Amino acid sequence: MQNFTSIDDVGDPMSLAHRALAIKKQPFKNNRLGENRVLGMVFFNASLRTRMSTTRAAYNLGMKVITLNVTSDSWQLELEDGAVMDQGKAEHIKDAIPVMSSYCDVLAVRAFPTLKDKEKDYKEEVLSAFLKHSRCPLINLESATLHPLQSLADLATIESYKMVERPRVVLTWAPHVSPLPQSVANSFAQWMNHTDYDFTITHPKGLELSEQFVSGANVEFSQEKALQNADFVYVKNWSSYEDYGKVIAAPDWIMNKKKLERTNQAKLMHCLPVRRNVVIADDALDSDHSIIYEQAENRLCSAQAVLESLLKDQD
Ligand code: CP
Repeated sequence: MQNFTSIDDVGDPMSLAHRALAIKKQPFKNNRLGENRVLGMVFFNASLRTRMSTTRAAYNLGMKVITLNVTSDSWQLELEDGAVMDQGKAEHIKDAIPVMSSYCDVLAVRAFPTLKDKEKDYKEEVLSAFLKHSRCPLINLESATLHPLQSLADLATIESYKMVERPRVVLTWAPHVSPLPQSVANSFAQWMNHTDYDFTITHPKGLELSEQFVSGANVEFSQEKALQNADFVYVKNWSSYEDYGKVIAAPDWIMNKKKLERTNQAKLMHCLPVRRNVVIADDALDSDHSIIYEQAENRLCSAQAVLESLLKDQD
């Protein structure tokens, strides 16, 4: 693997998920693979899981890690090509990336969407700049439209819990107080569409995701119908793609224990962080249905599988 920016960079997503689960059992088997190599992580946005799990994954492989929080630790970066840089931004991204990549063996970046300019966001302004100017392999730590590291962990989690060959997996929209990216939902749909699972997306009308990512998935506007016989219920909010960035109020779509009791004893998933009693009720999050901590734990072995693959293909 040369980069890990979306599922399109992965030859066999299911094999990578199973590789992650094998790494979970023996995390230190390749603890010298990354000796004398450095992972550089560049954050334009906050993170808990992605930052800690990817750092730990690098340590398990013997790598060193440099982390840069662009908004607080570094010069403000200009993105616009041809900009006259006479305002607040002191460095152009096309100068910063080759320099950063010259200090690292793998570079990773998190850059969320603006949720104001759909065209710019869906062109992946920042991730594309990193792909263009980086001199070393690149990992997407969540970009404007996709979160493939999360989706790899989600696939590994479903594989480790599934009781039938083709589980029924339901991605359900849930309410939220502020506009959130579509990236987790887009990415999850892409990865699920690559499996032979029985996959359905449910959301209120007006919250359709981009066809670019969900094409082929079954969409059901009744949450109640969608949840019937579900083996896995993945809860996630996203803001409107059509009315770009708009928050849609539909408080009845909150996930709770009563709804989960109508499923096939479904496992409850969420990428976290989750706003309790807005997105999912406490009675569901704290029930036996929930596998949210195991899902988060699988971020570590998934990141390690990605790093291992990038390092091996650099040799
Ligand atoms: N799920 C996830 O990416 O978590 P963080 O935003 O905390 O990294």
